[in-house]
Amino acid sequence: MAAAAFDQSKAYAPQEEGTNFFDDGREIELLHFIYEHPNLDDFRDSPKNVLKAIDEYARTKKYLMNVGEDKGRIVTDLIADVKPKTMVELGGYVGYSCILFGDAVRKRNPEFAAVIASLVDLAGLSDIVKAVQIDLMFLDHYKPAYTTDLKLCEELKLVTVGSVLAADNVIKPRNPSYLEYVRASVEEKKEKMQSEKTINQYAKRYTQEDFSKSKGNPNLVYESKLLNSYEPTGVPDGVEITRCVGEE
Ligand SMILES: C[S@@+](CC[C@H](N)C(=O)[O-])C[C@H]1O[C@@H](n2cnc3c(N)ncnc32)[C@H](O)[C@@H]1O
Repeated sequence: MAAAAFDQSKAYAPQEEGTNFFDDGREIELLHFIYEHPNLDDFRDSPKNVLKAIDEYARTKKYLMNVGEDKGRIVTDLIADVKPKTMVELGGYVGYSCILFGDAVRKRNPEFAAVIASLVDLAGLSDIVKAVQIDLMFLDHYKPAYTTDLKLCEELKLVTVGSVLAADNVIKPRNPSYLEYVRASVEEKKEKMQSEKTINQYAKRYTQEDFSKSKGNPNLVYESKLLNSYEPTGVPDGVEITRCVGEE
């Protein structure tokens, strides 16, 4: 699906070359920018205003690798549709998407979260209870880990029928192996697994990595589609939305 035109007036500062666009002090600089902002009082208890302030820094000072407004809207629309009780994000950075999506999840499910928390607490289980199924997972971390982490979630049954995945940056910088995996049929996944097994049998030596790799659950059936959008700098990008619709 083609994306509507990018609004240049809200473009972030361009992303610097190579790896020179994070961890150079700008994250702490952002914190100072926000806490020294003349409108600081308006930010308290306002996810919208905190996001506006982060956007202001990234537009007027230095680029930040946030999901941004356009791709962020794809995921908040998905939250409205999926109404997740449990959402997981891989890749937090300075918390832009965490604030944006946390606010959207709370709007959808304010009472569910409160009911879970108070009943779990009443039962005396607050210290050991954890979520057993991910309703919605946003992948926005180390790009080669999208597929391996998804497979691990499948194997642990955290991702299962009904789970929805939203994967950022599948156009920029690209993530062909992830797209191949979530777009493959059960048969294709099983074939690939079998051929990898055969290759391993012929390999002279197994590496530790071979053993630690998660096999995932190839029987999960995914429906996957790309939604085109933009990086907050205006560079075209896309979010792959994948729904787990069955298990064979
Ligand atoms: C693109 S940023 C995330 C941006 C964030 N989702 C947002 O839109 O506000 C990627 C983040 O993933 C983290 N990261 C990198 N490798 C990771 C890994 N293997 N596991 C988890 N997080 C990782 C980085 O430290 C960074 O915070």
